[in-house]
Amino acid sequence: MRKNIVAGNWKMNNDLAQTELLLTDLKNQNQTSNAEVMVAPTFTNLYHASEALKTANIEVVAQNMHFAENGAYTGEINASMLKSVGVETVILGHSERREYFNETDELLAKKVDAALANNMRVIFCFGEELADRKSGNHENIVESQIKNALFHLEASAFNHIVLAYEPVWAIGTGETASPEQAQDMHAFIRKTLADTYGNDVADSVSILYGGSVKPANAQEIFSKPDVDGGLIGGASLKAEDFFAIVNAF
Ligand code: G3P
Repeated sequence: MRKNIVAGNWKMNNDLAQTELLLTDLKNQNQTSNAEVMVAPTFTNLYHASEALKTANIEVVAQNMHFAENGAYTGEINASMLKSVGVETVILGHSERREYFNETDELLAKKVDAALANNMRVIFCFGEELADRKSGNHENIVESQIKNALFHLEASAFNHIVLAYEPVWAIGTGETASPEQAQDMHAFIRKTLADTYGNDVADSVSILYGGSVKPANAQEIFSKPDVDGGLIGGASLKAEDFFAIVNAF
């Protein structure tokens, strides 16, 4: 069901002590919007964050997972392990996973299937490189990313999927997409969904924008009709900034 969502992707930041400090600051923030709020600590801090936020209106989500149930995958984490520490939602397909760990659309399709098979919700990330945007190929790239990884699914699966458009050239750069660029791409994504699954599915999926969202630009981006919130990196590491974005609806 479509709703406003703001999720903080902490990436590879915060040891246990730093996590405890940030969680305390987050719990002391005042939420004035109706947004669903999520934070994604690193694996080593998920259980602690889950326990610390049990009574807070903030969901703890994972930054990644493996598709296998169990086995000889040194260093990996699977869905049942995430669920065992209270995590029900996982971010998949982040551009940093695609770039640094060679995660392909085909691998991501397997990860999405594994998450859904374990009754988890997926925040599925995708987005074009700067060269694609400059050449006008950005819609083709985004269309292939979502179709290759998601369009084997039944319509009902989209009840458990949140989409996150993150133009790679805006991630961590301060070069935020303009509200118009975000809206144009989100509208294209929703039409791509509608063309295959119909308007009911397309209108029910939350589509988040990610890429240098800050307190100063969040409201204008979130005001666009096809933008349902944000996936926040750097600005999620300070509770006050993160909640300035949470409240920017
Ligand atoms: O997953 C969100 C992230 O990629 C955006 O990072 O630092 O540009 O907000 P940032």
